[in-house]
Amino acid sequence: MDDLDALREDLIGAVTRAQDLAALDAARVAALGKKGRVTGLMKNLGGLDPEARKDRGAALNRLKDEVAAAVEDRKQVLARAAMAEKLESERIDVTLPVRPGPLGHIHPISQTLDEIIAIFADMGFTVAEGPDIEDDFHNFTALNIPPEHPARQMHDTFYLPDRPDGTNMVLRTHTSPVQVRTMMSVPPPIRIIAPGRTYRSDYDMTHTPMFHQVEGLVIDETTHMGHLKGCLIEFARAFFDIDDLPSRFRPSFFPFTEPSAEMDIGCSRAGGALKLGNYGDWLEILGCGMVHPRVLEICGIDSSRYQGFAFGMGIERPAMLKYGIPDLRTFFDGDLRWLRHYGFLPLDMPSLALGLSR
Ligand code: DAH
Repeated sequence: MDDLDALREDLIGAVTRAQDLAALDAARVAALGKKGRVTGLMKNLGGLDPEARKDRGAALNRLKDEVAAAVEDRKQVLARAAMAEKLESERIDVTLPVRPGPLGHIHPISQTLDEIIAIFADMGFTVAEGPDIEDDFHNFTALNIPPEHPARQMHDTFYLPDRPDGTNMVLRTHTSPVQVRTMMSVPPPIRIIAPGRTYRSDYDMTHTPMFHQVEGLVIDETTHMGHLKGCLIEFARAFFDIDDLPSRFRPSFFPFTEPSAEMDIGCSRAGGALKLGNYGDWLEILGCGMVHPRVLEICGIDSSRYQGFAFGMGIERPAMLKYGIPDLRTFFDGDLRWLRHYGFLPLDMPSLALGLSR
């Protein structure tokens, strides 16, 4: 055994015994570093005669490669061991229940919107959105509410400052402009709901200047009033979780639907407390109707071929009813104690399969 065999055993032994990356690096430096033992021997090559230098140089290079390969192998082994240890020590049980608390609470409006979306998603509706700041065309004209139409006054519209062309943008007074935007951008069949914020200049016990609505729109070649009724009755029963919740549709008027109706659900007001169910009294929850042919035409849809229904519903009132929240204005006070009391756990997403609210 020449001196290099003993050295090889020594150096590779140190490498394979290294228990962590720091020890491994120390072993590498001791062999191949600037002041390492192999490097030292290489420096001595200069003193040898050419023939001997060639052989010795080749042998030292082989040794260097062997030590480097051993270091690489050991590094892999240590890395795998470190990963295994990390996986073992950081093991988490993903089936454990969520720890409630520091995540905060979901606002009852968000919860109610998520519930409404879950119900309509199950019926095949998708969610559409539009801007809060609208132009006159989408908020009024395209919905068959021309300038000077009395319905404009009823909306208590917030107007934005004059634009250079003399027109004014508005804060949308309802979610119905999303109907227009959808019909103008996608061809039928259409089946969407459009939840979102709406604005009217009104503030008292039962009105806030910002509130929420959800709009619904179905357009195809065959949908009729019977589908409208079935869809909305099913929605109300699922949302309020009352299987035999009575409902009725009263004739009404909206410029953008013909015929138009308002939907009432059964309730009781006995003793001043509002309770939903089959008690003989009625509570209005939404407006609806068959989309007016003129609206279809304005939106570029052939009204001799396509038809369908629309509906629009406020969110705050159903939320108050379902969750027993007595005062509308508290929704927007931003009081954390109120939110802790009426809010929902963030990870309990409403779903028809697991329950809308738990
Ligand atoms: N946009 C109406 C409102 O804010 C609600 C409404 C009624 C929407 C009937 C509709 C509808 O789509 O068909 O008062």
